[in-house]
Amino acid sequence: MTALADIIARRIRREGPIGLADYMSLALLHPEHGYYSRRDPLGRGGDFITAPEISQMFGELIGLWCADCWLRAGRPSPFSLVELGPGRGTLMADALRAAAGVPGFLDAKRLCLVEASHTLKAMQRGALGTHRPRWLTSLSDLADGPIILIANEFFDALPLRQFTYRSGAWHENLVTLGADDRSFRLAVDRSPARHTPLLDRLYPGADEGDVAELPGMALSLISEIAQRLSQPASEDGTPSGGAALILDYGYHPSRPQATLQALKGHARHDPFIAPGEADLTVHVNFAALLRAAAEAGAETWGPVGQGAFLEALGLEARAAALSTKASSAQRRDIEAAKHRLTDPDQMGVLFKAAALSSPDFPQPAGFAEKTTGRHAGSD
Ligand SMILES: C[S@@+](CC[C@H](N)C(=O)[O-])C[C@H]1O[C@@H](n2cnc3c(N)ncnc32)[C@H](O)[C@@H]1O
Repeated sequence: MTALADIIARRIRREGPIGLADYMSLALLHPEHGYYSRRDPLGRGGDFITAPEISQMFGELIGLWCADCWLRAGRPSPFSLVELGPGRGTLMADALRAAAGVPGFLDAKRLCLVEASHTLKAMQRGALGTHRPRWLTSLSDLADGPIILIANEFFDALPLRQFTYRSGAWHENLVTLGADDRSFRLAVDRSPARHTPLLDRLYPGADEGDVAELPGMALSLISEIAQRLSQPASEDGTPSGGAALILDYGYHPSRPQATLQALKGHARHDPFIAPGEADLTVHVNFAALLRAAAEAGAETWGPVGQGAFLEALGLEARAAALSTKASSAQRRDIEAAKHRLTDPDQMGVLFKAAALSSPDFPQPAGFAEKTTGRHAGSD
């Protein structure tokens, strides 16, 4: 039994079964034994690989997306350039290198990072130190003024609650101990959950046995971002507003399903074995997030498949430009990366891009239309 499994087991013996969100929080972020607290999980030697670690083209195109937003917004200076969960800092380093081609952008930005892991913070300091980043513990610590925010594979790491529909009501799925008093398993709470307005609204025609997820932390964070984007300029004339780009794997429209998964060494793992040793993630419910953002006052855009989004931003042209100076082996790598990022059977469709913007903000690149109208009815 790992040290963290022992801590969780003792808590369950003491207090009874715990919610999945509590279990995920402990497994991912326990200050001493949590998955993200102790390691660099990315890359070939880790447990998973993300788009910016596959190819520099990903971060470069996101950097140009940010610079384009900044230009369309009238070159505000200063503005906060924020990244949630920057991993090794690779995405932001590639983004800033590409955006350096837009005069004034680098000088105007105040780089702000939100990161829970000390190991990854140290790597971000190495990759981005020359840009003098500031690490925030919460978005409320952001200075007044416009923001451009990006988050790649961040929302999938946020803990959520899970419920099963039984006899006309939602019952929470709780983490409890197995018969051996050491292993963990999910069990449906016998009593119905007391207050489930969002589940009732998302899934009015739920069937017996349906399982649905409630991403409370993701919903409060997206609402906070949307509120920040829709804030009016302050009385002293400081401008506000801005845009946010969310990239992640997930679904739209909402549907009842259980998406919790664990990855270890690039392979599926049981989420209830050895908590803290494997990455735990969920698929992002884009419909619920965009609806919450719209309700909090932001315009919402997308989602569109990551493949279509990157192609709209000029992936083909960037790959061609890189290929002109590349060896034949490098050209093969560029092609393989492009395929992996955009192919519908790889990361092109399951991975999605969505944006939020302040109500008066110009249309962000890569999105043909707003989603706001589509939130009106059920998702
Ligand atoms: C899957 S990694 C993605 C890293 C990077 N964005 C990329 O694309 O390579 C998730 C990132 O979010 C951070 N993270 C996870 N949960 C967090 C939380 N609750 N608060 C702050 N950072 C968190 C992790 O430490 C890591 O940097």
